[in-house]
Amino acid sequence: MKVQRQNLNKAETMFKHIIARTPCPALVDGLSEAGMGKPDYEKAMEQHNDYIRALQTCGVDITLLPPANDHPDSVFVEDPALCTPYCAVITRPGADSRRNEAELIAPALHRFYDNVERIIAPGTLDAGDVMQVGSHYYIGKSARTNDEGAQQLIVILEKYGMTGSIVTLEEVLHLKTGLAYLENGNLLAAGEFVTKPEFQQYNIVEVPVDESYAANCIWVNGKVIMPSGYPVTREKVARLGYEVIEVDTSEFQKVDGGVSCMSLRF
Ligand code: GLY
Repeated sequence: MKVQRQNLNKAETMFKHIIARTPCPALVDGLSEAGMGKPDYEKAMEQHNDYIRALQTCGVDITLLPPANDHPDSVFVEDPALCTPYCAVITRPGADSRRNEAELIAPALHRFYDNVERIIAPGTLDAGDVMQVGSHYYIGKSARTNDEGAQQLIVILEKYGMTGSIVTLEEVLHLKTGLAYLENGNLLAAGEFVTKPEFQQYNIVEVPVDESYAANCIWVNGKVIMPSGYPVTREKVARLGYEVIEVDTSEFQKVDGGVSCMSLRF
């Protein structure tokens, strides 16, 4: 079923669809700056199954794509594609080893969207750098997303009546490494994002420094899926009234991945 046009003024859009991809054995060779060692593939598979089970409780249909062993980081489907209510965007990932993930994800996007746009060279963009708040998209300029890629995305968004703005990152890999919009004005933020002027209009829920990994959460239809083992952040999120589902993502953390990176939600 193709994605239907939704009301642009409705800030809290319910998600209907999820796309995820089964991790491949080559995950152990995924890009990593975490310095936490290599993931255990069997454990990663169990954790991914738990992640999918958590999503299954959120009232969405789930398309689970097969493992793609030529693409070690391909479980992180959030980076090669952006799914908006009006169009999908096939990105041009910033890391050379991930560039071909764009072609890999394309057929799945065409199943759901009539309008599929592309980021083209010399632009680069990882959609892990893109955070949606209603019809506005914050785009992190990072080691992976360059100014050209961000500007191309803004032009695409405006073509469909949406907007985008650029946020420069200084410390983290992706914008959503340190930020998660939980709808209803609530923004979970860690590190450099707590004080950024762009975000002061939101109810900033500060993630403590020693729990900064927990800033990578996802809101899915009223529930918040977050990594397990971060009790202070969990309590802060629960106090906002969300049902919290914790999932262990330790093996994905070893390759700089987290809860948001492992699905497309639209
Ligand atoms: N390993 C995930 C990434 O670096 O993009």
